[in-house]
Amino acid sequence: MAGLLAGKVAIVTGGGSGVGRAACLLFAAQGARVAAADIDLDAAEQTAQEVARRGGEAIAVACDVADAAAVESLVARTVEAFGRLDVMYNNAGITTRAGQPFLEASDDDLYRLTAVNVAGVIHGCQSAIRQFRRQGGGGAIVITGSVAGLIGFGGVVYGASKGAVTSLVRTLALEVAPEGIRVNAVCPAAMPTRFGGGALLDSPEARAHTARLHPLGRVVEPEECAAAALFLASDLASAITGVNLPVDGGLSAGRPLGAR
Ligand SMILES: NC(=O)c1ccc[n+]([C@@H]2O[C@H](COP(=O)([O-])OP(=O)(O)OC[C@H]3O[C@@H](n4cnc5c(N)ncnc54)[C@H](O)[C@@H]3O)[C@@H](O)[C@H]2O)c1
Repeated sequence: MAGLLAGKVAIVTGGGSGVGRAACLLFAAQGARVAAADIDLDAAEQTAQEVARRGGEAIAVACDVADAAAVESLVARTVEAFGRLDVMYNNAGITTRAGQPFLEASDDDLYRLTAVNVAGVIHGCQSAIRQFRRQGGGGAIVITGSVAGLIGFGGVVYGASKGAVTSLVRTLALEVAPEGIRVNAVCPAAMPTRFGGGALLDSPEARAHTARLHPLGRVVEPEECAAAALFLASDLASAITGVNLPVDGGLSAGRPLGAR
């Protein structure tokens, strides 16, 4: 199949919903064979079936990214199915209750969020890099960070986890650049997905308020985040590494002067 990822093999974590599901469909439409990985196997299977229905090739894999051994198995299962790995899209992430005051964040919230959003990304990077090395180098890692890792936006603990990802992208990119491995992130603003129960966008009023925060005057769609991830995963971005790319309708650019 022709396309930006023709002949490539990609893993997408959190592939059962939102950005991850959109990325599986888009990557497959662009020629990749895809492993849709999710803690929710039913959701991953639905994504894989939709890829197949559209003429693409995908497998569904159950994986909790907080579990290093499970992520290692995910890569092994993907290589067993498709023979190699070219793109690791570490997208799975969780948040705490929307609007949760900082002092109400429990240790359970803190440790689970860090385990998924930070350790989960690290596990994905480590397992992918091991496989890229077995293949002789090269390979693209893409991570879903957040605008909350670039500016103050939303919950403190969530923002701290995404800030860690922003830093990881830069430092890991430097370490593996000599091997031709690229590491980049997409940093979306609030999107209408199942994420956090969709609370920022769950009523017309909430959606209108959130839309007004963005200079483009609307919220970002998960397909737009997946499109940015596709660019970074593809050879179009062959000279790009260590970048945290905002996909945020201009939110992190600042505020315009004057009334609008
Ligand atoms: N939706 C937003 O407003 C928003 C904004 C900025 C960043 N993000 C980031 O986008 C990414 C994708 O979120 P989304 O909006 O598509 O949310 P979503 O809830 O629709 O999808 C997330 C998927 O990840 C899966 N998942 C959760 N924990 C997992 C784990 N431990 N291991 C494997 N899979 C797991 C879920 O089952 C779900 O299918 C996340 O990293 C999130 O932090 C989302």
